[in-house]
Order: sequence, then C-alpha cells, then structure tokens
Amino acid sequence: MTSETITADAAGTWKLGDLTVNRLGLGAMRLTGSAAFHHGTPSDRQRSIAVLRRAIELGVDHIDTAAFYFSSLRSANELINTALAPYPDGLVVAAKVGPFRDCTGEWGTSARPEDLRGHVEENLRQLGRDHLDLVYLRRMRQDSIAEHFGALAELREAGLIRHLGISSVEPRHLAEAQAIAPVVSVQNRYALDHPDELLRICGEQGIAYVPFYAVAGVAGERGATTDHDEAVTAVARAHGASPAQVRIAWTLHQGPHVLAIPGTGNPDHLVDNVAAGAIRLTDDELTRLDSTRTKAG
Ligand SMILES: NC(=O)c1ccc[n+]([C@@H]2O[C@H](COP(=O)([O-])OP(=O)(O)OC[C@H]3O[C@@H](n4cnc5c(N)ncnc54)[C@H](OP(=O)(O)O)[C@@H]3O)[C@@H](O)[C@H]2O)c1
Repeated sequence: MTSETITADAAGTWKLGDLTVNRLGLGAMRLTGSAAFHHGTPSDRQRSIAVLRRAIELGVDHIDTAAFYFSSLRSANELINTALAPYPDGLVVAAKVGPFRDCTGEWGTSARPEDLRGHVEENLRQLGRDHLDLVYLRRMRQDSIAEHFGALAELREAGLIRHLGISSVEPRHLAEAQAIAPVVSVQNRYALDHPDELLRICGEQGIAYVPFYAVAGVAGERGATTDHDEAVTAVARAHGASPAQVRIAWTLHQGPHVLAIPGTGNPDHLVDNVAAGAIRLTDDELTRLDSTRTKAG
C-alpha cells in the first residue's frame, strides 16, 4: 500500500465522550504560516485549504484548533470554515481557550473565567458552528483551574460545548476538573524526548491523551526536530519511513487512548503523517526507541 492510499483509520479509533474519532488527526496550528507563533510569513491560502480538504479525504475526522492560531493574514478557524463547511458528518473540531492574542498578534494575559464565554463564542463565529464538539481549557500557569473549568462546565450545560478537556496540566488539575465535570481528553506536551505522567493516568482512567509537539519534540514551536537519535533513524530506515513518521507511530504505540494531532501546512507531510498510523513497531523497535528516552534523561 502506498502512503497515498493509507487512511486515518489505520491506527484505529477512540471515543471522545460519544464522538468516535480516528486516532490520527490534524493540528491546525501550522496552517497559518511560518515562524515562532506565526508572526512570520503567512501561509499560502490555497495550500492550507488543500491540506484541510485532503485531510478529510484521507479520513481525518479530528482537527485541533484555536482562535489564537493566526498570523497577520491567516486564521486557522477561518481556513477550516472556508475549506470544510458545510462540515462533514462525524468531523470533530476541538478548540482551546484560555490564552488569547490581541489583533496585532501580541499575547494578552490569561483569560479570566468570566471571559471564557466570549472566547468560546469567538471560536463558534469563526468556525460557523452553533456548538463546539470539544473545548479544552488551556491552563496558563494558574495554580488552580477550578474557576476557569467551572466556567466552561456552565457553557457545556448551556449547550455551547459538547465535551470538555484540559491542556498543559499536571495530574492534580485533572482531579480538580473531574470534581466539576467529566473530562474526556487531556492535551499535553509529549514526545519521544519529552515524557509526561498524565499519559499513563489518562490510560488508566479511559481518558483520551492528545500529545502536542510529538513531531517537533525539543524544537517545540520552531518546528520539526532534526535532533534524531540513531535509534530513530535506524527504525525509520527499516520501515522506509521518515523520523517524523516514526515519532508519530511511537506516540500511537503508547496506548489506545493516545490520539495524534501532527500539525502541518504541507500536503506531502499530511499524507506521510496519516500513513504513520499504519506503521507497526515491533517490541524490539519499541525497546530501542524507549532506550533513547533514558539517554535523554
Ligand atoms: N495545547 C497546547 O498548548 C498546544 C501547543 C502547541 C500545539 N498544540 C496543538 O498540537 C498540534 C501539534 O503541534 P505542532 O503542530 O506545533 O507540532 P508537531 O505536530 O509536533 O510538529 C509540527 C512541525 O513539524 C513539521 N512536520 C509535520 N509533519 C512533518 C513530517 N511528516 N515531516 C517533516 N516535518 C513535519 C511541521 O512543518 P510543516 O508545516 O512544514 O509540515 C511543523 O513545523 C498543533 O497543530 C496544535 O493544534 C497545542
């Protein structure tokens, strides 16, 4: 099977509450342009729209976005709306609220709990939807998330949000949120070179775990890491795959509750990333890749 014929169901599915999604999804952050948090060159509009439409053709039914993903001329939510509305049945669009940027792109201070309704409504307007399938509270250094999460729980009760998640959190925040409302997903930074204990905790509780920067790794917002351990390149060679694909495949092998959302604005990378869902790593390969983590400390 060539990469072009592998679809997003190759790694199986997971239920976000009552919504079934393929485990291989798409992060929208890279659709708006290059450079650190997208103050740089705006993306080619038609190319980004093509990536989104191709993703749907390839079976992607889980897109992660945010109103604060924008460059000078592109908004991830607007691109999603233009490319995909009327939205296909079964497409789950997840948005994050908490951080915000003003119209010049500068980061504001963290949203207050009472601001969150406005942030949810901004996502609804941009996406052209009347409810959001999944909304994450993206924690912004606050010690307790109870007030913010409580505000989102009220919006869920009001029907603006179907399911709730939390992002950039520690285990104690999960317990804090669960005392208020059900949490279907945790989105945290996690990669071969970046461990996180919430992966295991979510697996034990049947909660989705959605890693970000799985491809970027140590490079974070700068883009895909080029700092590959020899084990990663060797496993990639053995599968005729790229290191980025191995990094995605490795995250998917960490548990059935792990949902990949690799971010790309490149149509070829999209095809590769979807195809990574079909890579089956052997126990030996997993051991070899895991050993790089010990080396990374
Ligand atoms: N909750 C949070 O705080 C948070 C923070 C950051 C991101 N996120 C979400 O998580 C998603 C994933 O994170 P991310 O997009 O920053 O990082 P990522 O998926 O780990 O990596 C994306 C970077 O890798 C490149 N890339 C992607 N696929 C590739 C491939 N097959 N070969 C080579 N390079 C490849 C992309 O460039 P190209 O565009 O050139 O492919 C981009 O520079 C985001 O899109 C966003 O939805 C959440």
